[in-house]
Amino acid sequence: PVQNGDRDLTLQILEAVDENASVKTSETFPNASQTEVKAALDRLASRQMIEYETDDSEEVVLTGEGQQIVDEGSHEFKVWDAVRKAGRMSLKDQALATPSAKVGQGNAFKLKWIKKDGDSLIPLTDSVTDTTREVLQYVAEHRALQNPRDLKDLRKRTLVTTQKIITYDARKGPRWARDIPVEVTDLTADMLADGSWKTANFKPYNFKALGEQSQGVGALHPLNKVREEFRKIFFNLGFTEMPTGRFVDTGFWNFDALFVPQQHPARDMQDTFYVSDPPEAGPPGPDPEADAALNAMEEEDRDEEDSDPPTRPTQQPTKHLDYAQYYANVRATHQDGAFGSIGYRYPYNDAEPRRLVLRTHTTAVSTYCLHRLAANPRPAKYFSIDRVFRNETVDATHLAEFHQVEGVIADYGLTLGGLQGFLRRFFKKMGLVGLKFKPAYNPYTEPSMEVFAYHRGLGKLVEIGNSGMFRPEMLLAMGLPEDLRVYGFGLSLERPTMIKYGVNNIRELLGHKVDLGFIEGNAAVRLDKA
Ligand code: PHE
Repeated sequence: PVQNGDRDLTLQILEAVDENASVKTSETFPNASQTEVKAALDRLASRQMIEYETDDSEEVVLTGEGQQIVDEGSHEFKVWDAVRKAGRMSLKDQALATPSAKVGQGNAFKLKWIKKDGDSLIPLTDSVTDTTREVLQYVAEHRALQNPRDLKDLRKRTLVTTQKIITYDARKGPRWARDIPVEVTDLTADMLADGSWKTANFKPYNFKALGEQSQGVGALHPLNKVREEFRKIFFNLGFTEMPTGRFVDTGFWNFDALFVPQQHPARDMQDTFYVSDPPEAGPPGPDPEADAALNAMEEEDRDEEDSDPPTRPTQQPTKHLDYAQYYANVRATHQDGAFGSIGYRYPYNDAEPRRLVLRTHTTAVSTYCLHRLAANPRPAKYFSIDRVFRNETVDATHLAEFHQVEGVIADYGLTLGGLQGFLRRFFKKMGLVGLKFKPAYNPYTEPSMEVFAYHRGLGKLVEIGNSGMFRPEMLLAMGLPEDLRVYGFGLSLERPTMIKYGVNNIRELLGHKVDLGFIEGNAAVRLDKA
């Protein structure tokens, strides 16, 4: 019905514009709604059938009191009229006889229509011109003042007020037509073949149209949107994505291979979720699924590789990865020291590496992939973005599960300065500049650095990540060559997402308290490149 109403108005406007050189909508369609008039005009103007200008103007209208004066005469008129009819009237009687007598008397004195005679009022004239009423009558008829200078006074006397009116002034446009022509929205093969495209009347694009809010369709979670941005950055920098499907991993990959001491507090029940059923896995070995995924990805990357020679000839023979040997190396390094390390010098507990845990960091995956690299040592860049679990007290900024973004780079002759340079380049792609580094401790990296960036909103440096050069005993135990160095870094996906979407409580982002409307309605992410 509303649509039909619009259509009628559109046709009425066409009719009016056809008959008049200029159509002022507020005069021609005084009762139509402003929005409908504008919609109809826009419909015609977008086809250049008409042109229009908008006039903002003010009109003067009567207040209730003003209308009463138009109907009955001004206060001064009423006072004069009463006095004239009585011939003489006591001030008191007059005050009681006429409403607004005080104002009326004052004005009637000024106009010399009446005067005081002792305690009484007597008329001074037999006929008066009620100018106030005439002025207001003009307003009633014209919605304007004959003399605009009266406005201030009449407004003060609350007899008139002003209101804004929008008038559209419409006339024929360059593509004027009396009827809305049939408009073609699709260019078809037939039109191309028979040449009718040349004369077809194509519907113009409306670039201002808002898309319809889609209902009941899927929406990407903000974390997934930010994740996609990170993935693009990594892919652009030549990284390969690691297979991170193994949420449940063993203590070996999550801790032991990374030289997290077996008595490390992070391994305690407070920080780590241990799986009770089944409670343990076999000794470390290949993960065929992960290997297949990585092989496929590396295959793809090789196809795209340019022909620059590698930093150093790296065609080393593919070694057979001996997981038992690797395990023995890790065990020996922990207990007695090896590969230049003096070790932790405790009796190694073979039960710990078999325990099943919900992985506490994605570095468990990096470790698996680095060990796999030992089969054919060469420069490599790996990244992953996936879920990790920590047995933490849940609050506004901590959940028991979150996502880590992690990158690992292996190459010959890498230095700490190179890591800093890389991190600067990486974070610059997300608009984070002016990085600061602070010495930190990780059991598996030395040196280690926390990464800070200036947060404009908070006006201070905030920690954005953790990084370091992997320790030689960790890499040598894997069978990687001595001069192949590896550095890595990690950050949470949640923190940049919360900053980006202005979410202050992590529970609004993840978990059962999430508002689905927020997930469906949130905007696409754009990392502001610096
Ligand atoms: N695993 C570290 C963390 O949980 C991140 C990291 C990855 C640090 C790689 C150094 C090297 O924060």
